Amino acid sequence: MRKVVLITGAARNIGFAVAEKFAEEGYDVCITSRKQDSADAAAKEIGDIYKDVTVKGYAMETEYPEKIHETFKKVFDDFGRLDTLVANAADPGYNQSILSTTPEQYDHVMNSNARGYFFCCQEAAKIMKEQHSGSIVLIGSVHSKRALPGRITYAASKGAIDVLNRNMCYELGKFGIRSNLIVVGAVYNDRWAAYTEADYEKKRANWPLGMESYPEDIANSAYFLSSDKARTISGSELIVDSGVMSVMLSYNKNWDNEKDEREKLVK
Ligand SMILES: NC(=O)c1ccc[n+]([C@@H]2O[C@H](COP(=O)([O-])OP(=O)(O)OC[C@H]3O[C@@H](n4cnc5c(N)ncnc54)[C@H](OP(=O)(O)O)[C@@H]3O)[C@@H](O)[C@H]2O)c1
Repeated sequence: MRKVVLITGAARNIGFAVAEKFAEEGYDVCITSRKQDSADAAAKEIGDIYKDVTVKGYAMETEYPEKIHETFKKVFDDFGRLDTLVANAADPGYNQSILSTTPEQYDHVMNSNARGYFFCCQEAAKIMKEQHSGSIVLIGSVHSKRALPGRITYAASKGAIDVLNRNMCYELGKFGIRSNLIVVGAVYNDRWAAYTEADYEKKRANWPLGMESYPEDIANSAYFLSSDKARTISGSELIVDSGVMSVMLSYNKNWDNEKDEREKLVK
């Protein structure tokens, strides 16, 4: 029987690369997106390349626990098992500072990210407990470890995910379930296509490796963490960020006069 992976927010960027990697490794793959047609298009694209595996798309909004429950039920009905969950879908929550964030903005980001990851993990763990095996990979962020202005709710949501990782390692280990976190930073995604070469040069100058990471770099790490090669690794945090987090960034006193330009690029 083939192994089964579910990746949230996998219609593009990091999630898509993770889905492709697991398909290449012979897994049946479940892709979620908030939009059914996006999930289906990604599933078709990967399925057309890896014809020996089944790739299926599911509509799921991580903001709503009942939608998460329904989706995992469908996945179990379709495949009868779940070996790996890669929790990846997240709202970037741009331009939210401690002084400006509304309760509605806070709830949206925290519910989509912290609560969304939590209940995806709960649903996965219920299935994996019955199998007495499984691996959960949480896609985290350097923002939970270092501060940048205007990302406070996103950073807090990712901090909750770091805590979730440690606690799942403790609670789920005896059921044969491992949990690990990838601390992600400086990874190219489709929004970066809007940057000029000068923007890239400016960004790269801040990174010890002088280059951005790519979705495939995260996909390789996610696959390693869920594979038997990592069978005794649980509760770990693997940093994949081109070295960003090791750098003491210069402080910008005028941060509150600058909007995060990436906000308008969000799809
Ligand atoms: N790229 C980086 O440098 C970087 C750095 C640190 C952390 N990360 C983390 O890496 C993961 C993937 O990010 P990415 O760079 O590949 O960007 P991304 O494509 O923008 O994010 C992943 C997916 O999350 C889904 N999503 C967005 N807002 C959502 C919401 N409110 N509720 C539910 N789902 C939502 C979207 O899928 P649909 O539109 O199809 O639903 C989106 O494609 C995220 O967890 C992100 O926090 C990335």
